[in-house]
Amino acid sequence: MRIVVTGGAGDLGSRVVREATARGHDVVPASRRTGVDLATGDGLEDALLGADTVVHCADDPSRGDTVTVYATRRLADAAAAHDVHLVHISIVGIDQQPMTYYRRKLRAEQGIDAAGGPATVLRATQFHSLTAFFARRLSVGPFTVTIGDMAFQPVDTDFVARRLVDVAAGPRPTGYVRAPDVAGPDVLPIGEVARLVRAHRRASAPRVVRVPPLGRLMRAISESRNVPATGTADLGGLSFADWLATQPERLTGR
Ligand SMILES: NC(=O)c1ccc[n+]([C@@H]2O[C@H](COP(=O)([O-])OP(=O)(O)OC[C@H]3O[C@@H](n4cnc5c(N)ncnc54)[C@H](OP(=O)(O)O)[C@@H]3O)[C@@H](O)[C@H]2O)c1
Repeated sequence: MRIVVTGGAGDLGSRVVREATARGHDVVPASRRTGVDLATGDGLEDALLGADTVVHCADDPSRGDTVTVYATRRLADAAAAHDVHLVHISIVGIDQQPMTYYRRKLRAEQGIDAAGGPATVLRATQFHSLTAFFARRLSVGPFTVTIGDMAFQPVDTDFVARRLVDVAAGPRPTGYVRAPDVAGPDVLPIGEVARLVRAHRRASAPRVVRVPPLGRLMRAISESRNVPATGTADLGGLSFADWLATQPERLTGR
């Protein structure tokens, strides 16, 4: 099967490329470094020629609507015109959290639906690396701040990549569908994430400072709407603790 992977050099996209290649597919990474700019459409038509599926992992949250919303719609229109199955990565709970980026991701999903071609949206929870980054950002010295009862169900990026390839190589839908959400095995309050991150760096457990959730955004975070309802998601991959054990002591990036 010929599978185009947008953002094929990114964190998630590179894992999708590796997994799909290992399964014997003909894989075409597509992003600006391979001559495909989804924000302008340059190289897009050529990239889709002869493709069965395109897995959309490209994004650039720093450019507002440009890539997340408009480039996704451009890709969805092109995929529909070429009758290529579009597989799109999205985020669990984006319809229940009033964050700007999440609203954009929701509009991206709506644009894909409106394009009318065969498309599957797979929503994942926060990746382990991003969750560790949040814990570091919410920590100062020995203190970690939690907004109300904020928690995560972080997921192993390689597990998400495997599920995306399962969907890409699986039965093709006739229109827009959602795959089961994917998440990691454990729900972790942010204080526990910070404790595991600090233990990984051989530091003592943090003192957790609870901030009351004031306003819509903080309430949404406090209510953990980023965590899938019990029994609804496809759970798997390395636990956060097992993932941490594979990481260098000094965590960097997100
Ligand atoms: N991180 C998480 O916790 C999480 C959770 C759930 C879902 N997701 C979703 O996963 C997706 C991928 O995230 P990631 O962290 O893997 O991203 P990433 O590492 O930043 O990679 C994104 C890639 O997009 C490409 N790109 C950017 N602008 C482009 C453009 N105009 N045209 C073509 N390609 C472009 C870039 O390649 P070039 O520079 O070569 O163009 C880059 O390699 C995102 O949609 C995100 O919402 C992430």
